[in-house]
Amino acid sequence: GKGNYRHFMEKELHEHPVVLGDTLRQYIDPASRAVALPALPFDPVAVPKISFSACGSAFIATQVARYWFEQVARLPVDTDVASELRYRDPPLPEGGAALLVSQSGETADTLAALRLLKSRGQHVLSVVNVPESTMDRESDGTLLTVAGPEIGVASTKAFTAQLAVLASLALGFGRARGTLTAAEEARLTAALLEVPAHAAELLEQGLGDMMEIAREVAAARDVLFLGRGSLYPIALEGALKLKELSYIHAEGYAAGEMKHGPIALIDASVPVIALCPSGPLFEKTASNLQEAAARGGRIMAFTDAEGAPALRRFAERVVVLPSVDPFVAPILHAIPVQLLAYHVAVLKGTDVDQPRNLAKAVTVE
Ligand code: F6R
Repeated sequence: GKGNYRHFMEKELHEHPVVLGDTLRQYIDPASRAVALPALPFDPVAVPKISFSACGSAFIATQVARYWFEQVARLPVDTDVASELRYRDPPLPEGGAALLVSQSGETADTLAALRLLKSRGQHVLSVVNVPESTMDRESDGTLLTVAGPEIGVASTKAFTAQLAVLASLALGFGRARGTLTAAEEARLTAALLEVPAHAAELLEQGLGDMMEIAREVAAARDVLFLGRGSLYPIALEGALKLKELSYIHAEGYAAGEMKHGPIALIDASVPVIALCPSGPLFEKTASNLQEAAARGGRIMAFTDAEGAPALRRFAERVVVLPSVDPFVAPILHAIPVQLLAYHVAVLKGTDVDQPRNLAKAVTVE
């Protein structure tokens, strides 16, 4: 049941700390801070590249994972939505590696992509939340997310659990491939292991201007989400969540793409939700946001204590998240964009757990 929560989604949002902790403990030994992966269906050292595929939020998780695999494992990654991959004819190396991500393990397009990849001689690893699901059974190997049943149609805890598995896997690849030093591995696994506590902190303390932002967004017709690097897919996730839960038109963009078109949309009626934690890309993102603000855009920024002062100079609202290593920032920032979509949906009175036209598992093409 929902316990004391109003919606399953609200309950599931509050399960983030536990789910992230349970999932990370499967793949990282807390005592030694070393990644501990089960046997994989391919050799991380020998693979020339890896093909990712999934649908919806699970696809967005693979887009975040691409940044991680490139950064720490120096491995080329392709990712495509399963409904496209299944009808493409991608050249694939014999014995290559493929990775599919799905909460349900039953999504028709993802399953079709899995079967295509297998028929092309790829060794398939899946990240799924439902043991014994079709994808679990048909894969050469499975890494489980430990998110428990997810009832709300919009994915929340399963998405962050997917990120936790994919981050651990990227670190495991980095170690195996010799692209990550033991010291870096220890630093990044420590950062990952702290995410559940930061998620709890964020959910318990509430998030400053979150409700004011939700009210602004609920009154808008269009909303832009911006981010750079691994926060760019989280901008896509923010837009997807808002669309599906509140039926408000939203777009996620790489912050640097603004001046190539979408900045034409900017006026005082379009809230701009910025995901802008401190880190190597902070200055670049902040300068894109400042350009939008100079054209009348109303910037609502999610950042950390280091990033807040610079953003306060032009942003209308600034929400301060716990400070974390940039490697794990996309996991932490996924939570406020989910919360925002939740609050906006409640304000608009839409059916939070069962948005119109959507099904929890899309088992038809
Ligand atoms: C978005 C959402 C969907 C699913 C997608 C894939 O909130 O829930 O986009 O992520 O339908 O579903 P699974 O992960 O079951 O393959």
